[in-house]
Amino acid sequence: MGERRYDQGMARPDIDIGAASGERKPVAARTTLVTGGAGFIGGHLVRALLDTGRNVVVLDVRGFAPESRFVVGDDAESVPLEIASIADQARVLAIFRVHRPDEVVHAGMILDPAYLATNRSTAFQVNVGGVLNLVEAMIAFGVPRLINFSSIGVLPRVLYQPIDGNHPILLSDAGPGTDFYGSTKAAAETMLFAYNQALGFDFRTIRPSAVYGLGMNQYVGPIKAMVENTVRGEPAHFEFGGKHPRPYTHVRDIAALVLAMLDAPDDADRIFYGSNGEPLVTTTEVGQIVRELVSGADIEIGAELSEAEKPVVALRGELSIENARAQLGWEPGYASIREGIAQYVEQYRAFVGATL
Ligand SMILES: NC(=O)c1ccc[n+]([C@@H]2O[C@H](COP(=O)([O-])OP(=O)(O)OC[C@H]3O[C@@H](n4cnc5c(N)ncnc54)[C@H](O)[C@@H]3O)[C@@H](O)[C@H]2O)c1
Repeated sequence: MGERRYDQGMARPDIDIGAASGERKPVAARTTLVTGGAGFIGGHLVRALLDTGRNVVVLDVRGFAPESRFVVGDDAESVPLEIASIADQARVLAIFRVHRPDEVVHAGMILDPAYLATNRSTAFQVNVGGVLNLVEAMIAFGVPRLINFSSIGVLPRVLYQPIDGNHPILLSDAGPGTDFYGSTKAAAETMLFAYNQALGFDFRTIRPSAVYGLGMNQYVGPIKAMVENTVRGEPAHFEFGGKHPRPYTHVRDIAALVLAMLDAPDDADRIFYGSNGEPLVTTTEVGQIVRELVSGADIEIGAELSEAEKPVVALRGELSIENARAQLGWEPGYASIREGIAQYVEQYRAFVGATL
């Protein structure tokens, strides 16, 4: 019937991919594949997934970063870690054949904006092609649900606040404000809707904002150096960036949101922001919080924005987490950035102590 309607020009083709969502295994019986699991968010996510009783398999181009190994703890020795690129379809299929995951969290990709702008073919092969390779492997092996890491970097600029899942990512005069990073993320997001709409493939996308915590990367600005230099007793001085406002999000809240998204009801939204739901905080304010939390902190930052950060500031706005609250029952545990930074300080101290 479906096919006849299609022949009459009336409907989408009726294609059975055999991976429609249905009964899910109980959490403790599941194996979760985490791409990029050896990185910053990946490490915290692997820990959170293991704490639910799941088996976890990591796919990454490298072994655990030192901080991620610390966060995962002794289990880092026993979690299977497949050194592989998501851009390699044959390798991705082989990993599915061996480990038979029940769900997939996709956090593995290239973030470095300069690398992406100078290595554009690789940018597309990894950040867009990698998602397609994963999805095709999931269809081939009948794996029902993908959580895809996107970013607030898909936004062009703020049109209204709080920004929600319906905020445009393409305007008549602008695309994603973070160039090849946001554009490859946006391309992957739109392809996932094609898989969902045409084939019934089940996915959810998370768009995290300014994620901080042990193991964080430098793209979130001076907060990393402010915390880590200060704990090590070193100065943290910056010429620019004090006025830059961000919706900072603690990495443990991102991990908890991903867990909630893995069990989202079938009719839940497809896009969720990873944010703390609070007003934006400037880098100057972050510096002040670190000074108050760590005695003897030597932090200085000039108020003005550097040229490089101006386009990114244009897409910083308050983010709505209402759909995550209402549909997933998720609440950020670190709505207070002061508490989140205090946790980061404490865990970084423990990490430094353990690695001396
Ligand atoms: N940190 C943030 O503030 C933030 C904000 C928004 C979105 N995100 C997204 O979260 C995800 C995780 O980022 P992160 O902050 O943990 O960064 P990260 O660099 O620590 O983690 C990314 C991981 O992906 C791996 N990777 C790179 N190329 C790969 C490939 N070809 N195949 C498999 N793995 C590969 C890296 O080795 C690394 O371990 C990314 O998708 C990122 O875009 C992060």
